[in-house]
Amino acid sequence: MGLRELADNDEFARRYRERLDSIGVAAVRRGFHSISGARRSFCLNLVGVCSSYAIWTCPAGTLGSMLVAMGGAVSPHLASGLKQELGLVRAVETGTYRGWSARRLARVFPRVVTIELSPQLHQTAMKTLRDLPNVECRLGRSVDHLSELAHERVPTLYWLDAHWSPLFEASAGEADQCPVLDELKAIGPGDAADCFLIDDARVFCASPRPPYDPEHWPTLAEIFDTIRELHPGHYLTVVSDIVIGVPAGAKHVVDEFSRHPVRHWPLAARLARYLLLGVLRRVQRWAGER
Ligand SMILES: C[S@@+](CC[C@H](N)C(=O)[O-])C[C@H]1O[C@@H](n2cnc3c(N)ncnc32)[C@H](O)[C@@H]1O
Repeated sequence: MGLRELADNDEFARRYRERLDSIGVAAVRRGFHSISGARRSFCLNLVGVCSSYAIWTCPAGTLGSMLVAMGGAVSPHLASGLKQELGLVRAVETGTYRGWSARRLARVFPRVVTIELSPQLHQTAMKTLRDLPNVECRLGRSVDHLSELAHERVPTLYWLDAHWSPLFEASAGEADQCPVLDELKAIGPGDAADCFLIDDARVFCASPRPPYDPEHWPTLAEIFDTIRELHPGHYLTVVSDIVIGVPAGAKHVVDEFSRHPVRHWPLAARLARYLLLGVLRRVQRWAGER
């Protein structure tokens, strides 16, 4: 099917309407459907060309930052749901990077500890987070700090996101690219209410591609097994690129997040994500037709 036919196609229009509704952008949907098929096709092509140009010309570091800001940072919506349900009192993050998730967590928790291996990124984060007295930035290997931080009577949300990230400026950790299994072991049994959110689930679902070294990255099964061994009653799942392990009683909080994973995003970010996914899907479909 060509682009023109695609834009006129009822099924295609219905799917776009559903997706726009799912991110709550009814005004955009109305605008999109008030224009004729030919113009609609033109708009979609324009968005595709502009997005491709922006991504193509974007320096790798900036692209990495954009990706974290758009999708890779922790969801405050999920964090606050778990905090309320389980009475969590603090958050611990591994891999501070620019401090975006630490800032989000600081809005939810009275205490946040964030650990970064790169001295340069640690220094920058100390500066950018200095307006938040409830955030403590630590420098060093996550594993070393976690064994000291884990406590059986301090229910904690762990956002485990320390790994080598070649797309991000100054990222550390190439020699031990993903220490997440050691992190879980360093935390140990901890508190019964501890929650684990591990970012970048997609990398654990299949062998990571170069420049990552697959020997350094655990599989999803290994992560599940390790959490299950230390926290036998935890509910385990994957939602929106996050491996999630929470006490079984908090499953409904995760289910709710799964239904509306981006509701809390700013409108501009939801739109950008929606457009980007639309373009990617169309490219995939186009490639499939060849
Ligand atoms: C994907 S970024 C983290 C993004 C950040 N958590 C956020 O949500 O905004 C990964 C970070 O982990 C750091 N890192 C890599 N290995 C580490 C380790 N063993 N301990 C602590 N930090 C590590 C990298 O330097 C990089 O800054």
